[in-house]
Formats: sequence, structure tokens, C-alpha cells
Amino acid sequence: MAQKLAAGNWKMNGTEASLAEIDKMLAAYPEPGCKVLICPPATLLDRLSTRIGDGPIATGAQDCHMKASGAHTGDISADMIKDAGGTYAILGHSERRTDHGESDEVVKAKSAAAVGAGLIAVVCVGETEAQRDAGQTLDVVGTQLAGSVPDDVTGETLVVAYEPVWAIGTGRVPTIEQIAEVHDFIREKLVDRFGAETGNAVSLLYGGSVKPSNAAEIFAVANVDGALVGGASLKADDFGAIIDALQ
Ligand code: G3P
Repeated sequence: MAQKLAAGNWKMNGTEASLAEIDKMLAAYPEPGCKVLICPPATLLDRLSTRIGDGPIATGAQDCHMKASGAHTGDISADMIKDAGGTYAILGHSERRTDHGESDEVVKAKSAAAVGAGLIAVVCVGETEAQRDAGQTLDVVGTQLAGSVPDDVTGETLVVAYEPVWAIGTGRVPTIEQIAEVHDFIREKLVDRFGAETGNAVSLLYGGSVKPSNAAEIFAVANVDGALVGGASLKADDFGAIIDALQ
């Protein structure tokens, strides 16, 4: 049975002042009924992890390098994420695939490095609008999944996020049928590749314009175990309402 997970991706947003939102969340959700994860920008990871302490909210990074250390200016490694208190890393977000040219091979190597260091990898997949219009959604998602997810994972070390690129930050959301189709497909592929025990234990998140107003409907879809939330994770009230819908 996959764990329910409400994950927030702050992207390139947040400074010291933003941490007040976490205080509000900790006060409102001392014992959330689902796993909660916040992935702030790297500059805030240590401070956020320290602020949360042993509390109920996990923290993670939005990327990690495939190497353990070395001459890689501007990058951070999985060990550094752990050192800063993080337990998760988002890999292969479409913004990194686009802005930094990350291929499936690169995402796979980064995910393997994250898992190898003891982090939980949140591997993102999703089609562009042109690919959906061309009827290529399942082909694209299947190729990304096969190419980006490393071999050595378990239901406890892998999370997969389906994020249609055209739904990210646009206010547009796929239909319930479209979400169900892709999530069922991802589940089937994971079970085929890793077996039923592992495949069914991987949490599958939907991401793309999730808000308090649509969360409950999305969470009612089979094989949707939670959400990877961008904009709505920046405000404790909005993210809290999404946690409420999931727990
Ligand atoms: O990783 C989260 C994401 O890309 C969705 O962003 O702002 O549409 O919730 P948003």
C-alpha cells in the first residue's frame, strides 16, 4: 500500500521570511494524517530542517548532483542534502529538464545517486501540450519512466510524480479521466518492472495546478497517492487545505 504524501516544491521562491509559513503549518498540523514534505530552495534547506526538528514534516531538495563530491560549481550532492537535514530529492522536474537540458539518463544517474546516499527520490515525468495533442502522452511518460527511474529502488525509496508540463503553473488541470489513465499506466509499468510488492508501494503523486479547490477530486482518483504542489505550497493556508483533503 503506497504512502499518502503531500509534497511542496517551493521552486526558486523563499527567503528567511517564508519560514513563518512553516511555523503556521506546524501549529496547524502537529500530527498530520499523511506524510508531508517541503522542498525549499537549497539556501533554506538547512534552516527549514532545523526549524522543523523532529517534527512531522520532512524536507528535501529540488535536485542533486550525480557525483558525491568534486569540482561541480553551483551543484549540491546527495550527501550535502542529508547533511542539511533533507531526506528527499526531487529529480527530473520538467523545469530542470527544460532549463538545464536534463535527459532521462542524467535524471536516472541523479536518482541513483540520491537513493544510493539514502535519500528518497521523487522522479518527475510528464508530457508537453504538443505531445498530448499528438496522442503521445503514454509513450512519452513510459519512455521517461523507463529511462529516469534507476534499477535499485524500493517502494520506500522511490516516489513518482506525474506532472503534465502544460498544467504546471497554468491553472489548467487534466480531466479526472486523463489523470486516472496516466496514473494507472505508471502503476502498471512499475509493477511490470519491479514486481507487485514494490510497484504497488511506490507513492504516485499528481502535480500541476493543484489547489485547495481541486485537491479532493484529484485525490479520489485510484493510484493518486498525493500531490506535488508548486504555487499553493508557499502559503500555509493553501497547503494546509491540500493536506486536509489528503489525510
Ligand atoms: O513541482 C510542482 C509543480 O511543478 C506544480 O506547480 O505551481 O502548478 O502547483 P504548480
